[in-house]
Amino acid sequence: MKKIVVLVSGRGTNLQALIDASRSGFIPGEIRLVISDNPVAYALRRAQEAGIPTLVLDYQSFPSKKAYEAKLLEVLEQENPDLICLAGYMRIVGKEIVQRFRNRIMNIHPSLLPAFPGLEAQRQAVEYGVKVSGCTVHFVDEGMDTGPIILQATCPVFEDDTPETLAERILKYEHQIYPQAVKLFLEGKLEVRGRKVFIRGE
Ligand code: GRF
Repeated sequence: MKKIVVLVSGRGTNLQALIDASRSGFIPGEIRLVISDNPVAYALRRAQEAGIPTLVLDYQSFPSKKAYEAKLLEVLEQENPDLICLAGYMRIVGKEIVQRFRNRIMNIHPSLLPAFPGLEAQRQAVEYGVKVSGCTVHFVDEGMDTGPIILQATCPVFEDDTPETLAERILKYEHQIYPQAVKLFLEGKLEVRGRKVFIRGE
């Protein structure tokens, strides 16, 4: 069974989608550990309820970002997962970790990248006035939301949308394409060439 580690900071609905997909056998992998930088993340509760080990690396308790990243790298090297999934993880992963796990770290972002990277992507989309938005699963590189794109899903943006109503619409697609991307990866169907991801057998 392939090993997955999930990094979270918040409520964990994407974590839940991955837990459900693992349990049902949709993804051929097991979530071995959930790491949170936030001790009160609801995602921790979800992991515990699913019987998955959790680890809190409380960012505030580290003297520096460097110290935090060093500890995180140490834990990840110990676990040596096949795949690391960021699921509502609110930090930029440091260069050393990215290099050590190149093309083995995935993220889900609630916009059609490269549009609206960074925080509050749904608010950015509403304020910009786009008619279509969606979500993106991508590999993590050294930039912010810039890595090779694996899957995207689109949805309409309505004139009366608020960031909240759009976020809710996009979230449903997130919960579909994140497990789908993880499945493709664990089945060995993703090939990264430069900044393009080729899906074998498609
Ligand atoms: C999602 O919108 C995800 O795309 C973004 O952060 C949010 C996390 O939500 N990266 P949840 O914690 O998975 O519910």
